[in-house]
Amino acid sequence: MNTMKISSKMKKALNDQVGLEASASNSYLAMASWCEVTGYEGAASYFYAQSDEERTHMLKIVHYLNDMGANATIPATKAPATTYKSLETILKTALKNEQLVTKAIHKMVELSQKDKDHSTYAFLEWFVNEQVQEETKFETLLQKFDLIGRDKLAINEIDKLLATQATAAEPAA
Ligand code: FEO
Repeated sequence: MNTMKISSKMKKALNDQVGLEASASNSYLAMASWCEVTGYEGAASYFYAQSDEERTHMLKIVHYLNDMGANATIPATKAPATTYKSLETILKTALKNEQLVTKAIHKMVELSQKDKDHSTYAFLEWFVNEQVQEETKFETLLQKFDLIGRDKLAINEIDKLLATQATAAEPAA
């Protein structure tokens, strides 16, 4: 086994992040599935793609931990909700979740600075930028309810919009 190139605290933080990304992936999968059975086809493809994206985030961290000789541990995740009130609630939950992830990433950046751990600092830069995009994405979508409305026709419009954005997910790096 390689010698560990990061602190134990950083190892724990990154492993916790694996858990957060796994939970996000599962939670978006549950949302996608609910949208699918509810008839929101656009939102369903959007969240299936989002779930895949979270899995790529998780994998990035797993590989990084292993590359640093810190062995990733794959955690159990809590079962996500199976039913949701509305598409708007889903998007609100998604935004809240992303805000939590952003906080966790920022904490790790601070830890990497404290540790003078330049490798992890550089590794996290991608996630910092990604979180800005993720939050903006959900904020913009949530604005649509105020702009277009919340009646059936408006939701249908928003569902169509989500369909156009479903394939716009960033390719896994
Ligand atoms: Fe992996 Fe949506 O942050």
